[in-house]
Formats: sequence, structure tokens, C-alpha cells
Amino acid sequence: MKYYIATDHAGIDTKDFTKSLLEKKGYEVVDLSPKTKDRVDYPDFAKKVAKSVLEDKGSLGVLICGTGIGMSLTANKFDGIRAALCNDIYSASMAKAHNDANILCFGARIVGEGVIESIIDTWCKSEFEGGRHANRIAKINNSVDNC
Ligand code: RB5
Repeated sequence: MKYYIATDHAGIDTKDFTKSLLEKKGYEVVDLSPKTKDRVDYPDFAKKVAKSVLEDKGSLGVLICGTGIGMSLTANKFDGIRAALCNDIYSASMAKAHNDANILCFGARIVGEGVIESIIDTWCKSEFEGGRHANRIAKINNSVDNC
């Protein structure tokens, strides 16, 4: 399993911590973040991860910004991306189990390292349940007009 990860300036240290958690679990992690803490625009980095996840079938993404909101809003503009804002453990579980999310987003200014570790553990262990949820994902994919 390959992960594409990126942050903006607000989450550089958090991104390094998260990247190391994923690597310790044996995942390959491609880091598309800015190289410095200079101010950048989060949409530019959300776009890089969203495009990479779409092009590399079966890969997943992690996007971090101050709140996780800007990253998730941007990533969800890409058809086929289901970016879930998970600043808590229950959301991280449901994002996979019910929403088949392919990008995990959270806020570096909201969650600390302990919670991030639990979010990553939960996200990595959770699997899409399919069934009735698959029908709902199909409706997302077919645009809101079909809901
Ligand atoms: C940057 O200050 C901040 O706006 C950004 O990291 C993010 O929280 C936006 O949603």
C-alpha cells in the first residue's frame, strides 16, 4: 500500500510525525509537501495528493493543514476522491467503514500526537463494509442529481 501525503506550512512537523507512523507500519509514503515552513496555499498541495491518488490505483492519501478543512474541501473537488476530515478516532473508523474514504484529512492545530497516533491506527485497521454503503458511494459518484 502506498500513501501520498502533503501538508501546508501549518502542519510540517505534524506531517513528519504522521509520515513516520505510516512508515513504521510498513507503508511506502510519498511526501508531496513543501520543503520549508514558508507560507503556501493549501489547495496547491491538496491537488498534488488528489491527482496522485487518482492516478495510482489502490493508493491512499493523507492531507494536513491547520484545521484539515481547506485540504478536504479542495481534495473533494476531484471526481473519485472521497476526502474525509477526521479530527477524532470515531470519524477515522467510519470514514473507511461507511464512506470508503481514500484521503484522510486532519488539522495540525486541532489534534495532538497522541490523538493522531490513534487516528492513524484506526484508519489503517478499518475497512470498507460495502453492502448498503456501496450503493451510497455509487450515488456520490453519480453526482447529487441521482440521490
Ligand atoms: C493556514 O493559516 C490555514 O488557513 C490552513 O492551514 C488551513 O487550516 C485551512 O483550511
